[in-house]
Amino acid sequence: MEIAVLGWGVVGGGMIKLIDEAKTPLLKQLHVKRVLIHRPEKAVDDRCTTDINEILNDPEISIVCECIGGLEPAHEYAKKALEKGKHVVTANKKMLATFASELFDLARQKDLTIGYEACVGGGIPWIANLERIKRLEPVEAFQGILNGTSNYILSQMEQKGAGFAECLKKAQELGYAESDPSDDIDGHDVCYKVVLSALTAFDQAVDPKEVPTFGIRHLTKEDFAFAKGQGRTIKLIGQGRKTAEGVSLQVLPVMVKADSLLGSVSLNFNAGKTWSKSLGPAAFVGQGAGSFPTAHAAVQDLLDILEANSPVAAFEPAENQAGDKQTFYVRS
Ligand code: HSE
Repeated sequence: MEIAVLGWGVVGGGMIKLIDEAKTPLLKQLHVKRVLIHRPEKAVDDRCTTDINEILNDPEISIVCECIGGLEPAHEYAKKALEKGKHVVTANKKMLATFASELFDLARQKDLTIGYEACVGGGIPWIANLERIKRLEPVEAFQGILNGTSNYILSQMEQKGAGFAECLKKAQELGYAESDPSDDIDGHDVCYKVVLSALTAFDQAVDPKEVPTFGIRHLTKEDFAFAKGQGRTIKLIGQGRKTAEGVSLQVLPVMVKADSLLGSVSLNFNAGKTWSKSLGPAAFVGQGAGSFPTAHAAVQDLLDILEANSPVAAFEPAENQAGDKQTFYVRS
């Protein structure tokens, strides 16, 4: 299956490397045919183009992976890719949360998939798990640490007494932060992730502007000392809950017990908890930001699309060594 990657940055670059160096037979079926770059002098190899139309008008390309970030032209390219009959995989939570209704409606009309696992929780299979729970019973609530940059800053401030600006700079160097890091530290990045989680868990579209959102910019050493005195620490929490009226979503710094699951998640790690009737509480923890964890999630979306769109050939029953007849199914 031929794919195109828009943007050779932190996430796009990670995806290209994982696919180019494919380790499994399934992943070897994916091929990066084109990569959209911004500046021609940055071309790494002859797959690079600065012309989006070379990708959109190429009938061999089945999936467009949008890793540009920001609202435009990411939204325009994702929409055009769907209009041209291509599946879309994106790591761009800001764009997808903002244009969710339009893009998902378009994908439904065209019977196409939008893969957005990489939008929430980095490498954690968060969206996939919400979908799995929901196909069995309603998700009642979710809560999590969903921003690696702010969690990195908070845990370094708490553990090392480090200053805010110094921690942010390090998070940027490590490739965790958004191009505009105010989205990370003012809670907007978590807000987009909470909106996409609510859409997945509750089938409810919420305008990000409607979600009460508070960040971590104003937290001080004194706040951490106060929390510590209470056996607590401070984490930026995104949460959602089903209510009689609809849904209730919030993003805010919370004092959590230092020895709780959320309290012990540090560095760029994210954690997401869900509640549903028979499963009860369940939690998922892993790297929430960075090139390869996020690229891993996006490539998993690609493989889901590949599997869903590959014909399955059943081979004739053959005898195994024990003399049993077995039927083998192989994806072509
Ligand atoms: N800036 C984001 C974060 C990247 O720090 O979590 C992953 O979504």
